[in-house]
Amino acid sequence: MQKLFTFPENFYFGAATASHQIEGGQNNNWTRFEHANAERLAKESEAAFAWNPHWSKFKSEATNPENYISGAACDHWNRYEEDFDILVSLGLNSYRFSIEWSRIEPGESIFSEEALDHYEAMLIALQKRGITPFVTLWHWTLPLWLADQGGLTSNDFPYHFERYTQKVVNRLGKYVHFWITLNEPDVVASHSYLIGHWPPQKKNPFAYLKAERQLVQAHKQSYQMLKAYNKDNQVGIAKHQVAFVMLRPTLTNRVLKFLADQFWNRPWLRKIKHYQDFIGLNHYHRHCIDNGYGKNPNLVQTDFGWEYCPESLTQALIELKGYKLPIYITESGVADADDTLRQDFIPRVLKAVARGIEAGADVRGYLHWSFLDNFEWDKGFWLRFGLIQVDFKTQTRTIRQSARMYAEISQKRQIEL
Ligand code: FCB
Repeated sequence: MQKLFTFPENFYFGAATASHQIEGGQNNNWTRFEHANAERLAKESEAAFAWNPHWSKFKSEATNPENYISGAACDHWNRYEEDFDILVSLGLNSYRFSIEWSRIEPGESIFSEEALDHYEAMLIALQKRGITPFVTLWHWTLPLWLADQGGLTSNDFPYHFERYTQKVVNRLGKYVHFWITLNEPDVVASHSYLIGHWPPQKKNPFAYLKAERQLVQAHKQSYQMLKAYNKDNQVGIAKHQVAFVMLRPTLTNRVLKFLADQFWNRPWLRKIKHYQDFIGLNHYHRHCIDNGYGKNPNLVQTDFGWEYCPESLTQALIELKGYKLPIYITESGVADADDTLRQDFIPRVLKAVARGIEAGADVRGYLHWSFLDNFEWDKGFWLRFGLIQVDFKTQTRTIRQSARMYAEISQKRQIEL
């Protein structure tokens, strides 16, 4: 029998973005990486994505070097008012975005009042529209001067991050209650220092461990700074959390699941135990376990080639319940240029949230990734995650059908289970 689930009255329904992926006009370590690597990424894309069932649709875009240059991106830097009007038209009540460190501190100890003014204007624009901001301080990009000093592995990284936090909170603190210090620190440290795909493209386990340590320290100092400014501030990280699913409950599979959770899902939350007021959950997919880790070959794959299973969010929520902290889903979404999968995803993923709440997880918000189609790091523009379609040539925004479905459910605050 179907039953109607009602989301809590002050539940946050919103959408999320990151500065480098939408603002345009960047000058940071990723910009430099893009210019140095666009040709190579375009050449390698065919081999890298040959396994992807959707590849033929994207081949011409992904084999073009221009795809790998973020350039004007969504030109959100100049169009934020118009974009926020779209959030309002959808009736969403919250918005997660990131502050671009390289704009705030373009040279070491040189802080840009102009950039602070700009973010203040953005926060005022949100306030006027009644939209609650969730502000990320660091979504992966570094000022060039800091990258040149060793980036995350620089001994001074925590000091610089704390000082940047201080500048931001002193100026913008009065508009912001929810702070996310770091986005997916485990993902960026492993891709940049272990796998070597992302700047500075190192494959060095010692550098990786140091980057992790520095990030933990940076988070703690930033946390303390934000709480010192206002003890009521709610501060956390956005944690990449995978649902590891055993296809059969054998002993080997149990051991593999235990190891995966211990090495991926748990370490960060353990390391920052007394330095978080909530858990920000970024969840995209599950990993199947059957004498090894992999995908379930029978499931649909998103344009990215990630396994499609919106229900795995419930498992991620239940597994986080034990931390006894409020949970805000800070990212969840699908790469789907056609918007057919996303239309299926929206009701299913919101049911998955509802089931998580019913199972006792203290979930207080859902911020869909992403608000706009955007620049997907070393993959470029061809992956479309937006509720809003963006034509990158004309900068035209088109509201997708999935966004309208999301708007409808969030307005009602109810979903049939
Ligand atoms: C997350 C990142 C976000 C976006 C999505 C697809 O890991 O935080 O910036 O790239 O994946």
